[in-house]
Amino acid sequence: MLETLQQFNRLASIVPSRETAAPYIVKAIRAKHGFLEFFAGSGLVAEGFSGKFTPLWANDNCAKKADVYSANHGKRHFQLGSIESIQGECLPVAPLAWASFPCQDLSLAGLTDGIHASRSGLVWEWLRVIDEMPSRPKILVAENVTGLVSLNGGAHYRILHEALVERGYRVGAMLINAELWIPQSRPRIFIVAIVEKACLPSSLTGTVPNWLHTSSIIRACDSLKDWIWWNLPLPPQRKISLEDIVEWDAMPQDDETQKRNLALISPRHAKLLEMLPHNKPFAAPGYKRTRNGHQVLELRFDHIAGCLRTPQGGSSRQLLVLINSGHLVCRLLTVREAARLMGAPDSYKLPGSYNDGYKAMGDGVAVPVTQWLAKHLLLPLVEAND
Ligand SMILES: C[S@@+](CC[C@H](N)C(=O)[O-])C[C@H]1O[C@@H](n2cnc3c(N)ncnc32)[C@H](O)[C@@H]1O
Repeated sequence: MLETLQQFNRLASIVPSRETAAPYIVKAIRAKHGFLEFFAGSGLVAEGFSGKFTPLWANDNCAKKADVYSANHGKRHFQLGSIESIQGECLPVAPLAWASFPCQDLSLAGLTDGIHASRSGLVWEWLRVIDEMPSRPKILVAENVTGLVSLNGGAHYRILHEALVERGYRVGAMLINAELWIPQSRPRIFIVAIVEKACLPSSLTGTVPNWLHTSSIIRACDSLKDWIWWNLPLPPQRKISLEDIVEWDAMPQDDETQKRNLALISPRHAKLLEMLPHNKPFAAPGYKRTRNGHQVLELRFDHIAGCLRTPQGGSSRQLLVLINSGHLVCRLLTVREAARLMGAPDSYKLPGSYNDGYKAMGDGVAVPVTQWLAKHLLLPLVEAND
C-alpha cells in the first residue's frame, strides 16, 4: 500500500516535504508566464499550474479557503473579497485568466436557476473585470459543472460563448473527467477562449469532435460562431484505485453511528459486500440518498469515489464502507482522503476544521486535470503567442 501511495504522491508531483513547502515561491519563480485566478478557493488550480504558470493575482471571498490558499501559495498576491469589488484597471497584465465560477445555479443537484442567477451569474462580474483591464488576457479559461452545457439543450453555454465571441475571442468547451487520473468521478466542463487573431498550433485543434466532446457539447455548440474543437492527448491509463488513497488506520465512527449507517445499505449492496473476499482490503464509497421516501446508503463497487461535493448540512458527505482485516467498518472520508481524491499531494496544507478542509476540497478543481491542461494546451498556446 505504501508503495502505491508513494507512487500517488509522485503522480501528484509532490513538493519535497512539509518543512520545505514554502519553496512554492521557488516553484513559482521558475514559471516564466503568469496567470490571474478568479474564484481561486483553496488554490488547487495554482497547485496544478505550478512550474508552468505563476499566480500573479488571485481572488476569492471565502476567508477559510483563503487560509488554505495562502498556506500553500503565499498570501501577497491573494485579494480576499467579493469579485464585485474588484476593479480590472488594478490587475496585473497576464496572458491567462482562469475562473472556476460558482456552480450552484447550474448544478443538476442544485436549483438550476442558470447562468444569470445570483451565484453562477458571478461569471458576468468576471467578464466585467476582464473588460476593465487595459490589456485583456489573450487566453481565458472558465470551469464549471456539466449542467453548463447540458441544461436546456446547452442554452447557458451558448450565452457565455456568445459573450466571449463579442469580446473578440474564439472559444471551445471540453468535458474532462478527473477519474482518468484519480479515483474520483468528477466530470467538469472547461471552456478555453483565445483572442481571435492568436496563433493556434494545428496540433491543438481539430475539425471534428474528439474524446473531449460529449453529445451535450456537440449539441450545445451546434452552429455557434467562432467555435474551436480543442484537441488534447488522452492520458495514459490511471494507475491508482480508491483503496490506494484510503487512510486504513483512520478512526471509524462510533459503534452506534456505524450500525445506523450500515443498516441503510440496500439488501442488494449488502449482498455484494458479503460476496467480497474478506481477506483483501476493499473500499466502497457512498452517499446517503432518499429513495421512495426512505433513506438509503448507496454504495459504489467500481473502486472510484463519487464526486466530492460541498457538504450542506452534513447529509451530502461521502461515506466509506471498508473491509479491512476481515472487519466491516463505516466512516466519513477523512480530509486527507478528500485531498488525495482531488489529486493534491500529501504536502498540501489544510488548516482549519474537518468541515473547512472537506469544503475546501469539495469545491476545488482536480489537480491532475489542471496539470494536463496547462501542459498540453495552455502553455503551448501562451508560448505560441508570446
Ligand atoms: C467552484 S469554487 C472554485 C474553487 C477553486 N477553483 C479551487 O480549486 O479551490 C467557486 C469559488 O467561488 C467563490 N465565490 C463565491 N462567491 C464569490 C464572490 N462573490 N466573490 C469571489 N469569490 C466568490 C467561493 O468561495 C468558491 O471558492
